[in-house]
Amino acid sequence: KPIVLSGCQPSGQLTLGNYMGALKQWVSMQDDHDCLYMLVDLHAITVRQDPKQLFEACLDGLALYLACGIDPEKSTLFVQSHVPQHAQLSWVLNCYTQMGELNRMTQFKDKSAKNENNINVGLYGYPVLMAADILMYQADKVPVGDDQKQHLELTRDIANRMNNLYGDILRVPEPHIPEFGARIMSLQEPEKKMSKSDVNPNNFIGLLEDPKKITKKIKRAVTDSDEQANIYFNPQEKPGVSNLLTLLSLSTGKSIDELVPAYEDKMYGHLKGDVAEAVVGLLEPIQQRYADIRTNRDYLNDVMRNGAEKASARAEETLKKVYEAVGFIPKP
Ligand code: TYM
Repeated sequence: KPIVLSGCQPSGQLTLGNYMGALKQWVSMQDDHDCLYMLVDLHAITVRQDPKQLFEACLDGLALYLACGIDPEKSTLFVQSHVPQHAQLSWVLNCYTQMGELNRMTQFKDKSAKNENNINVGLYGYPVLMAADILMYQADKVPVGDDQKQHLELTRDIANRMNNLYGDILRVPEPHIPEFGARIMSLQEPEKKMSKSDVNPNNFIGLLEDPKKITKKIKRAVTDSDEQANIYFNPQEKPGVSNLLTLLSLSTGKSIDELVPAYEDKMYGHLKGDVAEAVVGLLEPIQQRYADIRTNRDYLNDVMRNGAEKASARAEETLKKVYEAVGFIPKP
């Protein structure tokens, strides 16, 4: 089976964007792929976190992965900091990555512009740690949203560089970006992506938010200033409406072409009502499962323990290979 690896940061609440761009794909790949999914807490501390909040967010994230349908019997589910090899491989790859390459990373530029008082070395090296995450497991495919494309390209470059120097030691991964839903947009500012760290909470929908609040946010979503309230799909001309149609399509499983004709004589309000209903219908069962799982700490501990053990054993194989390739003496 092809190997799949992906992860989300446990910072704040996961959003509908994370679900549509990533988690939904993760769940659907479990049967015909060998999947590893993680919570990237090492990545999360590249911006300042409140320790108590990070601790809880990690457990929340794990319970949410499970509630969304990640099955620990099928997939390896783990917390990044439980597998020390990630930090170890990351160090080696740091020495094979040029500052010029990292200077070009748009996410670093965005994040450092927003966080002027904490442009730390970890934030800069973030993409290298991500490359280590992926290359560690010899992943074939990496299911991510559109915003991670550049990081994936860097990962491929690093892998090719190592292979050219030392022979075929790392598999070169392919990004797996959904054709549709790879970039869910903000509700109030549909020109930018939906993000869990947005300062305006009306811009995103948290997967665990109260259905009433979700409905309110969707009903308030910006459509557009277009005089004619026509409902059709065109992200350039109608970013807000197109985003709502995307959410409707992904929540109902119906294609855009199937959905649009039904709105020919309808108003934006109709569309919003339908989107709210569909999104709440999608999230309610997830929230119910989440409530059961989150309070079962013994179960969460079992999942984390098993996942870390499985992941660590696999990670060690690649780490050994890389250590040997660069000339480190194996521990006698
Ligand atoms: P993170 O935590 O920012 O996001 C997790 C996943 O959600 C996707 N995503 C979106 N998809 C569609 N629309 C949106 N508005 C939206 N917002 C986020 C992201 O593309 C991502 O797939 N660097 C990664 C975490 C990471 C990782 C890895 C991923 C660390 N190591 C190894 C894959 C493989 C990140 O910050 O994701």
